Amino acid sequence: MVKFSERANSIQPTGVRRMFDMAGDDTVQFGLGEPDFQPPKIAIEAFTKAMQDGKNKYTTTAGLPELRDKIAESWTHLSPNLNKSNVCITMSGTNALLDVFLAIVDPGDNVLIPEPYFPLYPPDVVICGGEPNLYPCNFEDGFIPRVEDLEKLVNEKTVAILYNFPSNPTGATVSMEQRDQLVDFAVRNDLWIISDEVYDRIIYNEVHVSFLGAGHDKLFLINSFSKTFAMTGWRIGYIISPDEDAMVQINKMQYYVTACSNDAMQYAVLSALENASDYPDMMRDEFKSRRDLICMRLNAMPGVTCHVPQGAFYVFPKVEVEGYNSKQLALKILELGGVLCSPGTAFGKAGEGHLRFAYTIDRADITDGMDRLEEVLSQLRGE
Ligand SMILES: Cc1ncc(COP(=O)(O)O)c(C=O)c1O
Repeated sequence: MVKFSERANSIQPTGVRRMFDMAGDDTVQFGLGEPDFQPPKIAIEAFTKAMQDGKNKYTTTAGLPELRDKIAESWTHLSPNLNKSNVCITMSGTNALLDVFLAIVDPGDNVLIPEPYFPLYPPDVVICGGEPNLYPCNFEDGFIPRVEDLEKLVNEKTVAILYNFPSNPTGATVSMEQRDQLVDFAVRNDLWIISDEVYDRIIYNEVHVSFLGAGHDKLFLINSFSKTFAMTGWRIGYIISPDEDAMVQINKMQYYVTACSNDAMQYAVLSALENASDYPDMMRDEFKSRRDLICMRLNAMPGVTCHVPQGAFYVFPKVEVEGYNSKQLALKILELGGVLCSPGTAFGKAGEGHLRFAYTIDRADITDGMDRLEEVLSQLRGE
């Protein structure tokens, strides 16, 4: 008899991917969260050159010292004592998240995870033998958690709380005051903070509010160059912790998970940080006009209510059509309109009643997609 681990059997492919696989050629794609830009040209050139120069070998587990120095330096305005020993380069934010959970979660432990969530969080905790302890981020509160809800859920087996601002799937960001309350909650309960800040460079009207340097060093910051430099396929990210003992544990995990990141690519990312530091701002400006367009169109449709998010490139509107749950609705919109979006429940049960649209396509396609959506919704309402 073929037997697979309980761990493997208990986790499922994500709903976002399942929908993506159903899309046809003429589909307007609001499905996947990846920028429709290419990495900066200078980074591609540096990548090629590094390979030609023989940078095709293993690097140290934590990664290229110059790159770690550069990353540490970019955060010293918030946490002045950071240096390269506080940084581990990973093969993506996805890899970084798993390293962190592996380093701090024991079987029976639980981790407070926001719901709606980025679909990797709960399975990652399960892979480590722990339990996801979901906390609500409600539409009515702008998707910001309430400390009183967190207080009800935390227990003696809770080891960490994960925060994700700007958020996937909601686009929510925190103010300094909200952040301080959330940090205070972690301090009072002696929890690790895992702060997933992969969208830190896609912030609209405000500056990014990080959890780093906010008075709690029992923290892991997760970041990635996937969104910052449109390098989703390159698979490169990093972990920072101000706690050097924590970094010793992280480096061990990283070694056993994937030994190190990719040699030549680390030179390419270094070049992007040194020579194309304003590239993310160029993408952000474009995303901002797309956000304005999609929010304006969605809010003009009957039965649709959408916050105007201040970060990331997602909107998570409430879309109410009688007789359809969010999965049935997303399938119907794909079938009748050729528009691919993700059902809110791909991000947890609390996503029921919502759809997620990633505005990572150009404005003409957004307009086309919104025209089609409007038509399908009025058809479903029997107009
Ligand atoms: C919130 C969040 N965290 C982490 C990731 C992982 O990004 P990557 O593995 O491409 O670095 C993503 C990707 O969509 C994300 O949305």
